[in-house]
Amino acid sequence: MNTNLSASAPSQLETDCLAVVVLDRSEKDRIEKDKPAPAPSIECSDAAVRDAARDLIASGEVTGKTFEITLLHHPTGLKAKRLLLVGGGKAKNFSAAELRKLAGAAVRTLKGKSIRSFAFALPGNGVSANDGVRAIVEGAFVGNFDPDYYKSDRKDEKIDAVTIVTQGDPKALESAMQAGRIVAESQNFTRDLVNEPSNRMTPTMMAERAQQMAEEVGLKCEAFGADKIRQLKMGAFWGVAQGSDEPPALIVLRYEPAGAVDKVHLGLVGKAVTFDTGGISIKPADGMEKMKYDMAGGATMIGVMRAIALLKPKVKVTAVICATENMPSGKAQKPGDVQIAMSGKSIEIINTDAEGRLVLADGLCYARQLGCTHLVDAATLTGAVVVALGYVNAGIFASDDQMYERFANANKQAGEKMWRLPLDDEYKEAIKSNIADIVNSGGRWGGAISAAMFLKEFAEDTPWIHLDIAGTAWMEEAKPWIAKGPSGIALRSLVEFVKGWSS
Ligand code: BES
Ligand code: MN
Ligand code: ZN
Repeated sequence: MNTNLSASAPSQLETDCLAVVVLDRSEKDRIEKDKPAPAPSIECSDAAVRDAARDLIASGEVTGKTFEITLLHHPTGLKAKRLLLVGGGKAKNFSAAELRKLAGAAVRTLKGKSIRSFAFALPGNGVSANDGVRAIVEGAFVGNFDPDYYKSDRKDEKIDAVTIVTQGDPKALESAMQAGRIVAESQNFTRDLVNEPSNRMTPTMMAERAQQMAEEVGLKCEAFGADKIRQLKMGAFWGVAQGSDEPPALIVLRYEPAGAVDKVHLGLVGKAVTFDTGGISIKPADGMEKMKYDMAGGATMIGVMRAIALLKPKVKVTAVICATENMPSGKAQKPGDVQIAMSGKSIEIINTDAEGRLVLADGLCYARQLGCTHLVDAATLTGAVVVALGYVNAGIFASDDQMYERFANANKQAGEKMWRLPLDDEYKEAIKSNIADIVNSGGRWGGAISAAMFLKEFAEDTPWIHLDIAGTAWMEEAKPWIAKGPSGIALRSLVEFVKGWSS
C-alpha cells in the first residue's frame, strides 16, 4: 500500500473517497433517565466538508458512536467521489489508539466495496499531527491484512493507496509516516508467520524466514540445530524437541548499531512451538488445530527485530527464538522425567503440555549468557491467562518495577491492551518438586502466575518482563479494524519499548 501526505483542503482533494472522523461531543454519559442527545461533530476544519454532511447529521442518522460507518456518494461541494463518516465515540475518550482502529475500520469497509484508494482527514481533536499520521498508517496497514491465502477464490481485495490529509512540518510528518509503515509492515510480517499451518511453518522453515528477513534488512542471523542445542546443554529445550521428527531450531538475531548506549543489551526471547499437541500429556482433539499459533511469541520477536533494523534505535538488541514441535512419540519425554536445564537447574516434568516454559527456560539462560542486561519474553504460554484476562488483555509479568514502568509507557503509546499480574514469592510454592529443583506445572490455580514463576527461575537476577499472549495472539472473531486470525499483539509495544532505550 502506498502512503502519501497532502496539505490540501480536504474539500479540494480529488479522491475516490474522503474519510473523516465523527465524534460525539455530548458531555454527560448516557444513563437511563437523563439521556443527553448525542452531539455528533465532523472533525474537520474545512467548512465545506462539514456542510456536505450537514443533512446527515441533522437527520439523526449519524451519532458518532464508535465504528458507526456512513458512506455518502457525490458529496456536495467536495471534489471527492464519496465521503465516509467514521464514528469515533465520545470526544473526551478519543486518542491515537482510537484513531488507529478507525483507520483500520475505514480500510476494511472500503476494501470490500472495490475501492482501491482513499484519503483520511486527520481529526484535530487531542492527537498531535505526527502521532495521528503514524496511527492512521498503522491502522490502515493492519486493517488491510486478510489471512485467507489458501482459499482458491481469494479475491485479494486490498487498498492500494492511502493519502493522509493534514497540515504540519512536512519532514516530521514524513518520518512519522515512514515509522508507522515500518512498524505496521513488521506486524503484518509477524501475522503472516503466525498464520501459516504447522506443515508450512516448521522450525526449519521459521529459521529460513528469519534468515531471509535478516538479509533484507541487514541483521545478523544464526540458526542452530539439534547438535548445538545438546552441546549447549539445553536439556529443557531438548526435552521438548526430542519427541519430534522435525528438527528444532535455535534462532539468534543480532542488532548491534554503532554508537549504541552503554551497558544496555536488550534480550528478546520468543516461544516458537510450531505445533503443540501437548506431547504424551496429549491435548483433546477439539480445537487442537489452533495450536499452530503456539509460535506467535517467537514470530513476534522476529517481527520486532525487522522493525528495529529499519528504525535504527541506538541500543543493542539480541533475539533468541526457540523453535520446536511438541509431539508424542517413542522418543518423547514422559511425565516424571527429569531434565537438566542449561542453567543447571533440574526440572521434574509433571505435564509434557507445559512445554513453553521449558523451551523459554533455556532461551532466557542463553540470552543471559550472550550478555543481555534486560530480558523480555513473549509466549502463548498458558490457558490460565485466558481464564484470567479473556481475549482482551495480554498478561504482563515483571520482576523489576523500573523496567515495568518503561514497558507500561511504551505499551500505552502503542495502544495495545495488557494487564500486569503478580509475581509474589508465595506463588513459588506451586512449583516445588519432591525430587528435583522445580516442577514444570504448578497446577490449575493461578496457572499463568506459576508459569511465570517458573520462567523467573531462569531470568534469575536479570531484570525481566514476561508477556503471556495466549489469549490475544489470535483474534477469535473479526473486529471492525482487524481480520479474524493472527493479531500481531505485543510487537508495537516491544518496538516502542526498545526505542525508549535509545538515548
Ligand atoms: N500452548 C499452550 C497454552 C495455550 C492455551 C496457548 C490456549 C493458546 C491458547 C501451553 O503450552 C499449554 O499447553 N499450557 C498448559 C499448561 C498446563 C499443562 C500447566 C495449559 O495452559 O493448559
Ligand atoms: Mn502445551
Ligand atoms: Zn504450548
